[in-house]
Amino acid sequence: MNASKQQSISQTSPHGRVTFLEGRGDLPMVEIATPWSAAEIYLHGAQVTHFQKQCEPPLLFLSQCSRFDTVHPIRGGIPIIFPWFGKPADKPGQHGFARVKDWELCEVTSPADGSVTLRLRLPECKPSVDCAACEVEYVVTVSDTLTAELRVSNKSGREFEFENCLHTYFAVGDIQAVKVTGLKGVEYLNQPTGFSRHTETADAIRFAEEVDRIYLATGHPVEICDKRLKRIIRVEKEGSNSTVVWNPWMAKAKAMPDYGDDEFKEMVCVESGNVAANKVILPPGQTSRLKIKLSSRALA
Ligand code: BG6
Repeated sequence: MNASKQQSISQTSPHGRVTFLEGRGDLPMVEIATPWSAAEIYLHGAQVTHFQKQCEPPLLFLSQCSRFDTVHPIRGGIPIIFPWFGKPADKPGQHGFARVKDWELCEVTSPADGSVTLRLRLPECKPSVDCAACEVEYVVTVSDTLTAELRVSNKSGREFEFENCLHTYFAVGDIQAVKVTGLKGVEYLNQPTGFSRHTETADAIRFAEEVDRIYLATGHPVEICDKRLKRIIRVEKEGSNSTVVWNPWMAKAKAMPDYGDDEFKEMVCVESGNVAANKVILPPGQTSRLKIKLSSRALA
């Protein structure tokens, strides 16, 4: 879709407002306003970097130190992790390539219900040792909630094994006053201790040190209870069997070049996907769908 067509869509849409801009680092960005909320999406990584309901603080965390260029991933919002998670020995770089590609914007719709939907496509997914021939689409809907769906269609003649994850950074008031619920009884791999296997025994996960865990075989919704902002964030998901919970804490925060030393206090990642033992094995001709719905309500 070229710029003039995008502009005409933004002008004729009667409900939600869609504006095409040069964002930070002059990267193409789409700004969305609906009757309930505002959002921003960069074509670099198809990354949602902002979602905010009226009369609420932003739902997503975005680092003040994030790089905005065509080479690095943006630090914050919802990076798309595909086709691998973490840094397997045989892969080039961490968390796949989808988050550093410039995606194509294919369609913008704004129906009478006031929502705005963007459909984006990952270009040039040619077969390689790291990825089968496939078509990858990402559909984001902004309304009083934020929904995002990653669709991967296997266009090759063989099974395609991959990992995916919507690596969502949530904004919180104070990490030490945050509880994450919905994972009790779930088995997890603890990354700081070399991926040792444990079972979650706590009713709620609390944060007083680095937390970096892959929860396996769980399709449950997760809630982030934030006492300081008096808000509960709910993460519902479909087509996802893993949940990753991550906060880098002090030392790792200092070591990251694109992340403020104290920003670990203001965010928690609750990531929905299919990683490690839950990787997707997609038969030829099939499509996998990973969907999240993010909502929030006041904490009574
Ligand atoms: C999380 C991983 O998903 O992403 C962490 O569990 C990792 O181990 C974090 O540190 C951030 O990764 P990156 O590549 O964005 O710095």
